Amino acid sequence: MSEKTLELKQEFLESLKNVNSMDELENIRIAYLGKKGSVTELLKEMKNLSNEEKKTFGQKVNELKNEVLDKISQKTEELKQKELEKEFSLMPEFDISIPADLKRGSYHPITLAQRQCENIFKSMGFVVADYSEVVSDYECFEALNIPKHHPARDMQDTYYLENGQLLKSHTSAAQNAIYKKYKDALINEGKPIKAIFPGRCFRNEATDANHENTFFQMEGIMVDKNISISNLIFFMKTMLSEVFQKDVKVRLRPGFFPFVEPGFELDINCLICGGEGCPSCKHSGWLELCPCGMIHPEVLKAGGIDPEEYTGFAFGLGLTRLVMMKYGVKDIRDLNSGSLKTLSQFTEDK
Ligand code: PHE
Repeated sequence: MSEKTLELKQEFLESLKNVNSMDELENIRIAYLGKKGSVTELLKEMKNLSNEEKKTFGQKVNELKNEVLDKISQKTEELKQKELEKEFSLMPEFDISIPADLKRGSYHPITLAQRQCENIFKSMGFVVADYSEVVSDYECFEALNIPKHHPARDMQDTYYLENGQLLKSHTSAAQNAIYKKYKDALINEGKPIKAIFPGRCFRNEATDANHENTFFQMEGIMVDKNISISNLIFFMKTMLSEVFQKDVKVRLRPGFFPFVEPGFELDINCLICGGEGCPSCKHSGWLELCPCGMIHPEVLKAGGIDPEEYTGFAFGLGLTRLVMMKYGVKDIRDLNSGSLKTLSQFTEDK
């Protein structure tokens, strides 16, 4: 009987040598350890043996069985390894030490312009205030001297939430909260309010190359005693010369916004033609950039500030527009497209 186990073992080891796949290995496992497998048959034969023989033979068969199991699991590992190697050999060569051929990510051009403006205003003593994108009707309109049914609301149709709040249609929506926050320091300590508040704005707008339903503005306000239009012009000019890195000429035209009185449209000298007239400025030599004006007395009052004693200016710089001019973006929709191919043109190496 023990010869039989030896024979089987030889035979098993021999057949294992030729195994090249998991399927073949499984067949061998069945041939030896399956219900009718050779080793299983040997075990079955034990019942015909004497007790003495059972002991020695049983031990041998068990040893054989364990060896078969061991060798099969060894072979399984070997085959798996081979399969992996085969897969790797089919892959293109890959050297982990070579730097990736991908371009590094970069900031969005609007973020870059926003930060640049923030730094300029911070250096002139303005605080940067953050504000929510969801605001109340009061903040967005009523507190800005735009009562219900005022025609000025038409131009600022936006998206409304079920609870009556809305997505702010302009950064001016933060003015009221900012007056309230800083008014005590102004009144009691004589500290002028100087704040800018950049933010994302929304309008219910049919989109085209010049209109988007989502865009960025940067609002700025300054309130103190004796603030005048010349202060407004000074700050705007300084900021724009820094942004465009050249001396820019500005002009004010009258403009209507219910929350400023007087209100203006601030134009800059066309940077492309230098004022000579070109297609970008529609041959006028001027580009419209920033609505602004002296804060309306009603707006100051709503913020808890006495308009008899204090005056101030406000401007609403179109950040998206500024970026379009600075980088020559022709279609506003490119800026929200998330297309790296488009955006990286404007931000590379910045
Ligand atoms: N909030 C105005 C708008 O978005 C712009 C503006 C701001 C005008 C501040 C005057 C003063 O259209």
